[in-house]
Amino acid sequence: MKITLNGLTIGYDDQGSGTPLMFLHAFPLNRSMWGDQVTALAHRFRVITMDLRGHGESDALLWHFSLEQYADDVAALINQLSIDRAVLIGLSMGGYIAFAFYRKYPDRVRALVLADTRAAADTVESRAGRVALAQTAFRHGAGAVADLMLPKLLGATSLERRADLAAKVRHIISGNDICGMIVDSMAMADRPDSRSLLPTITVPTMVLVGEEDHTTPLTEAQAMAAGIPGTKLVVIPGAGHLSNLEQPEAFNEALHRFLEELGE
Ligand code: MLT
Repeated sequence: MKITLNGLTIGYDDQGSGTPLMFLHAFPLNRSMWGDQVTALAHRFRVITMDLRGHGESDALLWHFSLEQYADDVAALINQLSIDRAVLIGLSMGGYIAFAFYRKYPDRVRALVLADTRAAADTVESRAGRVALAQTAFRHGAGAVADLMLPKLLGATSLERRADLAAKVRHIISGNDICGMIVDSMAMADRPDSRSLLPTITVPTMVLVGEEDHTTPLTEAQAMAAGIPGTKLVVIPGAGHLSNLEQPEAFNEALHRFLEELGE
């Protein structure tokens, strides 16, 4: 489905009924990465997936935005869907946006799932990497970005055994607009450090991480979990950075358990 929010066309899906779950995808993917979670959860929950600005079916503008503006799109979507509070499930860049959303709209968050993400801001080296990636996107296109990103997105187990999954992720990345990749890179490089936000998070939170995630590794997940009072940390064996795609059963089981514990 498509909707106009904050002057942009945004692609989204809204399925099922019950407690709303709002899924926020990783860079440089789109909402199609959540297919296994939609299938596993939409019979019991209201599952909403959206293409963030610059991704999938959403408009891609070549301009400088902040991740707070992405969070404003999430708020505008839940307003349009008459949702008061949602469980936010953000993976990697989706997690950065969940932090931006919580900073601005804490009363709209029922619970948080922070998957394969980090609270710290970019280092000098990672900012330089963003500049190089934006340049690759501009000069060589989305396929070259996929070549660069695949070894960072998938864990050793998937890279070794899951040629089908590598092809699927390549297909998702290649279908995205390079404007979105460039704009995301600038927005992520400029995002604030969220470590001081952690102790102020009062909603139930689960931190998930793939055991083989070298992009946002276990140490980052442990630091986030230690910083947020009462947080649950779940490590997913045999998964890298895209833990929901690499080990969907374990990822979905952790989500089910967390939601059950919430009493939802
Ligand atoms: C992602 O998966 O969203 C990215 O790896 C995040 C990042 O580059 O920091």
